[in-house]
Amino acid sequence: MGYRVGVVGVGPVGDRIIRVLRERGFPVEGELVVMATRERTEVLADEKYLVREVTEDLFEDLDVVFFAGREGARGASVQWGSVATDAGAWAIDNGSDFRMEPGYALIVPEVNMDVVGAGNRHICSPNCSTIQMVVALAPLHRAAGIRRIVVSTYQSVSGWGLGAMDEFEAQVRQYAAGEPVTHDPNIFDKPIIFDCLPRIDRFLDDGYTKEEMKMVHETRKILGEPELAITATAVRVPVMIGHSEAINVELERPLSRAEALEILRDPAQSPGVTVIDDPDSLQYPTQADCLLDEHRDAVLVGRVREDPTVEHGLNLWCVSDNLRKGAATNTVQIAEGLIARGLL
Ligand SMILES: NC(=O)c1ccc[n+]([C@@H]2O[C@H](COP(=O)([O-])OP(=O)(O)OC[C@H]3O[C@@H](n4cnc5c(N)ncnc54)[C@H](OP(=O)(O)O)[C@@H]3O)[C@@H](O)[C@H]2O)c1
Repeated sequence: MGYRVGVVGVGPVGDRIIRVLRERGFPVEGELVVMATRERTEVLADEKYLVREVTEDLFEDLDVVFFAGREGARGASVQWGSVATDAGAWAIDNGSDFRMEPGYALIVPEVNMDVVGAGNRHICSPNCSTIQMVVALAPLHRAAGIRRIVVSTYQSVSGWGLGAMDEFEAQVRQYAAGEPVTHDPNIFDKPIIFDCLPRIDRFLDDGYTKEEMKMVHETRKILGEPELAITATAVRVPVMIGHSEAINVELERPLSRAEALEILRDPAQSPGVTVIDDPDSLQYPTQADCLLDEHRDAVLVGRVREDPTVEHGLNLWCVSDNLRKGAATNTVQIAEGLIARGLL
């Protein structure tokens, strides 16, 4: 049996959704209905697609729609999410507009697919940094109870969309050609080449950024722990694709490095996690590693260490492809989970 599938938005996330659907053999019936703000032909995931201007009638026959458009009032899922669900489709949304709304499930399939029911026809996929962190931490939380999380992120430019990737590439070309490096202040405050920028999304009144608070609120919702202590610092780094995170956790019960590694290496306890951690042979994961075929949908974990400065503390380093597990793959896995549960 196949499903009629729509994709709204053809930036790097929309491109990866099309690629991941194909790679995983998702049962698509007929042609993918690919939509964006205006009609054109475009090469997506190495194949030519007709991109249609999004209109109400295009949703009429669809079973599932993946949203990968811009956020906000003029964004794709605010304008078209309810059109899709009213037409009878499931909406699976990469954007942040509805993630914290009551009644909207916020899903990382390895962690909380079980909360989805027939009433959740608009399902949200979390922020890329949140997804990889909860895949790595949920097994440790189940084993020893997480009391507090301190996380610092090292996030690639692709997390800010196609415009940011083009900006970074242009700066690299300018530098290589010996030309002055230009920058568009509407994308990043300063040139991203050779620098790290500790502002992702807008500043809030208390000095945190919206990205940092997404990690706080979304993690609590996914783990079902509304009071969990979490503090985050989100940093943009000059890497094209792939996010890293330095994570410090305080646990309710002691967990040694060896015990944590045993849990994280066990696919039954830690689905989606791949451990790369061997100081003796200089093995640890980096952003380049998450682009390798064998790791392309994994959350890579390494540098696991006991932290003796707090009670039952652990440090770890966590890496994943923000466009795949941090966005596209997570949404396709949600659709697969709906099929497995007989909901789609
Ligand atoms: N990049 C990441 O790492 C990441 C991770 C997790 C979640 N997300 C979220 O995923 C979404 C897509 O990210 P991206 O990086 O691919 O963004 P992007 O490069 O900005 O691309 C956005 C796409 O959405 C289309 N679009 C915008 N407004 C629309 C509307 N009202 N109706 C229909 N289409 C619309 C655009 O159409 P045109 O091409 O016609 O302009 C464009 O194709 C965003 O919500 C983002 O926050 C991104």
